[in-house]
Amino acid sequence: MPESYDAIVLGAGAAGLMCAATAGQLGKRVLLADHADEPGKKILISGGGRCNFTNVNARAECYLSANPHFAKSALGRYRPQDFIDLVDGYGIAWHEKTLGQLFCDSSARQIVDMMVEECAKGSVTLLLGDPATEIEHADGQFRMTIGGRAVSAPALVLATGGPSIPKLGATTFAYDIARRFGLSIVQPRPALVPLTLGPDDALFRELSGVSTNVEVRCGKAEFREAALFTHRGLSGPAMLQISSYWPHKGEIAVSFLPDRSQGWLLEAKRAQPRTPIRRALAPLPERLSDALIEKLGVEGELAGLTDKTLRQVEERLRDWRFSPNGTEGFAKAEVTAGGISTADLSSQTLEAKRLPGLYAIGEAVDVTGWLGGYNFQWAWASGRAAAQAIAGR
Ligand code: FDA
Repeated sequence: MPESYDAIVLGAGAAGLMCAATAGQLGKRVLLADHADEPGKKILISGGGRCNFTNVNARAECYLSANPHFAKSALGRYRPQDFIDLVDGYGIAWHEKTLGQLFCDSSARQIVDMMVEECAKGSVTLLLGDPATEIEHADGQFRMTIGGRAVSAPALVLATGGPSIPKLGATTFAYDIARRFGLSIVQPRPALVPLTLGPDDALFRELSGVSTNVEVRCGKAEFREAALFTHRGLSGPAMLQISSYWPHKGEIAVSFLPDRSQGWLLEAKRAQPRTPIRRALAPLPERLSDALIEKLGVEGELAGLTDKTLRQVEERLRDWRFSPNGTEGFAKAEVTAGGISTADLSSQTLEAKRLPGLYAIGEAVDVTGWLGGYNFQWAWASGRAAAQAIAGR
């Protein structure tokens, strides 16, 4: 006879830990299984080791999904403050770094330990180091084998994330199982990922290590944050953010010196005509100014340049077009956009519409947050929503 549970949660990442802990604390017998030898590996490396565990500004507009309304219900019922209360309850010190992003003062390990402790409070059985195989569904029960143990439950939660960063154990497992049970998948693609530049922009690849604040736009999306030039192309928060909106072809528009008002170069010419154009672009880093000026084909003092030329320079700096030739792929993507289609899931419960008892949560679902704690907030909130539904079964 298989060991029987009320729910089997596959994947002990952020979403799976929250789901298992909550369902367990609500009185359900829960098995949480992960093929990795420890839970929460992505939590451990997140936020540079300090885990940007939520963002106080999290709301559905900060998420990409084929259905932009899908995340509202779960996010509305488990808010950043709810997670902050949990963190505070464990005495974990945290700080706001920027733009509503909350980080541990000390270590991401504290968040993993907290979630493992929450699971223990819910008497969750944690199985590590073995994949789930022979997954079947019959007579209202999901049956499978994990590490030689036959297990079954009327509820199965897919919480195995997306394929970003395979070397951390990321797989397409959730998609494979979802497909097998008739759910559709929105084409997965790397997101929050560095963009690569081709030979036309070789000059910018030479700026590796240079960083500056920009405004970057693609379609209707727009972010104002730091951009970083790398030996392969463009990274830094601004570029990672826009990568999620870049449709893998076409241009992104960058405004260097986004705070300057219209006509600032002409004003600089009137005020300090002897200033060399490259110095007029301060506070842009010098190496970047030099590259931009080389590309624009202008040189010399402001006084030697016509007003028309200066207006054109200003316009180009406000609307500099890059045509990335790709991204650094799943190996470097912080998250996966796309995934299990929200059309096949209930936004209230994260349960499959056509297969009661099957749930999908976290990054496995076609809901992808901005950079800055939004993805963990979705993982906590969706895990919570599924757990509450399981508890109410
Ligand atoms: P997650 O990927 O965390 O967990 C999935 C689990 O399933 C893993 O434990 C994995 O081992 C397991 N698994 C996979 N395949 C399996 C299989 N076949 N069988 C059994 N188990 C399997 N977000 C944020 O909000 N703030 C931040 O600071 C960061 N920082 C960050 C840094 C880096 C480097 C990365 C790569 C990502 C981030 N993120 C982030 C994103 C964040 O880590 C991500 O969105 C969440 O971890 C998603 O949580 P899930 O639980 O859905 O998947």
